[in-house]
Amino acid sequence: MQKERKLLIAGNWKMNKTVAEGLDLVNGLRRELSGVKEVDIVVCPPFTALSEVSKAILDSNIRLGAQNMSEQTGGAYTGEIAAAMLKEFSVRFVILGHSERRQYQKESDALIAAKALATHAASLKPIICVGETLAERESGVMEKIIGGQLKGSTAGLSKTQMEETVIAYEPVWAIGTGKTASTQQAQDVHAFIRRTLAHLFDDAVAKRVRIQYGGSVKPANARELMSQPDVDGALVGGAALEVRSFTDIIKNSI
Ligand code: 13P
Repeated sequence: MQKERKLLIAGNWKMNKTVAEGLDLVNGLRRELSGVKEVDIVVCPPFTALSEVSKAILDSNIRLGAQNMSEQTGGAYTGEIAAAMLKEFSVRFVILGHSERRQYQKESDALIAAKALATHAASLKPIICVGETLAERESGVMEKIIGGQLKGSTAGLSKTQMEETVIAYEPVWAIGTGKTASTQQAQDVHAFIRRTLAHLFDDAVAKRVRIQYGGSVKPANARELMSQPDVDGALVGGAALEVRSFTDIIKNSI
C-alpha cells in the first residue's frame, strides 16, 4: 500500500532473549526479510544482546533500537546506559517512556523529555510512547492524558528534532492482553496525536512525524491497522519474539 510516511515497524523484545536466543531470532529475520524495502524494520533487544545482534544485522535492512537510555551523558549513575554506549553498537532508535517504565520505574514526562533531548544530542531517534489506561478511556479523560503526555515528553524539542522523533501510541489496556484497539479507535487517537503535534509545533512537523500503534499487533490485524491514514507503523511486543509472526506482520503491512 502507498503511505504518506514510510512505515516503521519495530520489535520491542522487552526483558526477553539471551544473546543466543536473540541471534537465532535476528538470523531468521534477516533471511526472511532481506527483500523488504517498503518498511523500515527495527529490533530492540535488551542491552545485553545489543553487541551481538548489531554484528548479526550488519549490511542488512534491519536497524537496531534500544529500550531505554539515561538522560545523562556519563558518570556516577549506577545501572544506567548513556547514548555514547549505545552508539558503539550502531543503535539508531531508543524507545522512551514505555508504559511499563512509566508504571514500574515511575518515569515522568519531564524525565522522558530530558531523555529525548539526550537522544537527539547524540543523533539517535527517540520513540516516545504515550497511551491511556482503560479507566482513563472509560472516564473520558483519554485526550487530556495523551495530550499531557505528548506536551510533557516533547518539551524543549526543536521543530527539527520533533520531525526526527517517532511517537508510539500504546493503549495500556491493549498491551499483552490480546485486546487490540479497533482500527477506528487507533486512527482516531493517531489523528488526535497529529493535531496535538500541529498545535505544539506546526502543521509541517505534524505531517512528518511517524506515529506507531502498539498493543497486541499480530499478523492477522496488521494490514487493517497499517492501512489507516495516520498509522505509520507498529511497535510490536509478544509477536516480535518469533521469526514467523514478526515477518508476517511486516509482509502483511506492505
Ligand atoms: P504486545 O504486542 O505484546 O501487546 O506489546 C506491545 C508493546 O508494549 C510494545 O512496546
